[in-house]
Amino acid sequence: MEFIDLKAQYHALKQEIDDNISQVLENADFILGKEVAAFEEKLAAYVGVKYAVGCASGTDALQLIYMAYGIGRGDAVFCPDMTFVASVEPAFMLGAEPVFCDIDPVSYNICPDSLERQIKAVRAAGRLKPRAIVAVDFIGNPADYDRLREIADRYGLLLIEDAAQGMGASYHGKKCGALGDIAATSFFPSKPLGCYGDGGAVFTDSGEMNELLKSLRVHGKGSSKYDNVRVGLNARLDTLQAAVMLPKLARLEEEIAKRQEIAARYDEALKDRFVIPRIGEHTVSSYAQYALLAKDRKRRDEIREKLQEKGIPTIVYYPNPMHGMKVFADCFRGEETFENTISYADRTFSIPFSAYLTKEDQERVIEALFSV
Ligand SMILES: Cc1ncc(COP(=O)(O)O)c(C=O)c1O
Repeated sequence: MEFIDLKAQYHALKQEIDDNISQVLENADFILGKEVAAFEEKLAAYVGVKYAVGCASGTDALQLIYMAYGIGRGDAVFCPDMTFVASVEPAFMLGAEPVFCDIDPVSYNICPDSLERQIKAVRAAGRLKPRAIVAVDFIGNPADYDRLREIADRYGLLLIEDAAQGMGASYHGKKCGALGDIAATSFFPSKPLGCYGDGGAVFTDSGEMNELLKSLRVHGKGSSKYDNVRVGLNARLDTLQAAVMLPKLARLEEEIAKRQEIAARYDEALKDRFVIPRIGEHTVSSYAQYALLAKDRKRRDEIREKLQEKGIPTIVYYPNPMHGMKVFADCFRGEETFENTISYADRTFSIPFSAYLTKEDQERVIEALFSV
């Protein structure tokens, strides 16, 4: 059984994807070809923002944002302790310091109370300047933007949405990607909207920011690629990847609806045995992952091993909280104990999930989970 069935999705969309790839090969317009502009326009409309700027990965999308806002040496960037390293790695590379915050024990997203404690601690210590919050829509579940907005405004911080896992999800009717001051996403193949390699995008409502990001993604270009007005990156979205994603984007709403059905079936079957995902009332998750919590780490590892024996793959997103990573060993820590993140990392495991998971495979997973 596949953990995420990308092959089934390809077979469902094969004709359109193959035709689009052939078209790009025929045109030989591989760099910023017309498919990139078409994809950016459709993606912005889908998310409900004015501009989507395609780029080479989700990591580059975040780096472009940090560069665009001049975040660097002496700045503190507040981030959930449970995320993928790329949420803050580019800021760290630019000289800023990530300040980790515990997660909420129900949503697994950044805990607003922990965030506020960390902001106060950074201000009291005086070494760093609080600059930005990176809210991550963890495993597809939007963060608590009502409270995050209020905190960001109160302390004068930029609210960056890391929607790498959240394409297709929504919060109070607004799509992920439109929930912060600016947002990044990833098109890594296993993401809810994935390409066939690396890709990403930045979302903004500002025309000026759109222009700046387009300059930064092509070596800080001015009027042309050979007129360089700032330091930038080579971080463009490939035409081929845009061509692959055009038909996938057209199906995303349908796939998100299917994901709700499959999650509901899992929820119903598993709710008495495990802690199932808890999604807020005005929230739709993209279920980038369907994650369960076991009683403790020992039991979690035992369950995973038994499922493996039955040919059912599981993955842990993520086994290591950020605050314990060697790379961040010298960063500001504050007084946080990160107990919710530590408990989550010990107990979580994700089971096979995609819009293409068959009823039979879902029953197999449920049956296996009842026998462990
Ligand atoms: C939360 C989060 N942020 C950022 C990224 C980085 O995206 P990419 O792998 O496309 O660089 C990922 C991808 O795994 C992610 O899950």
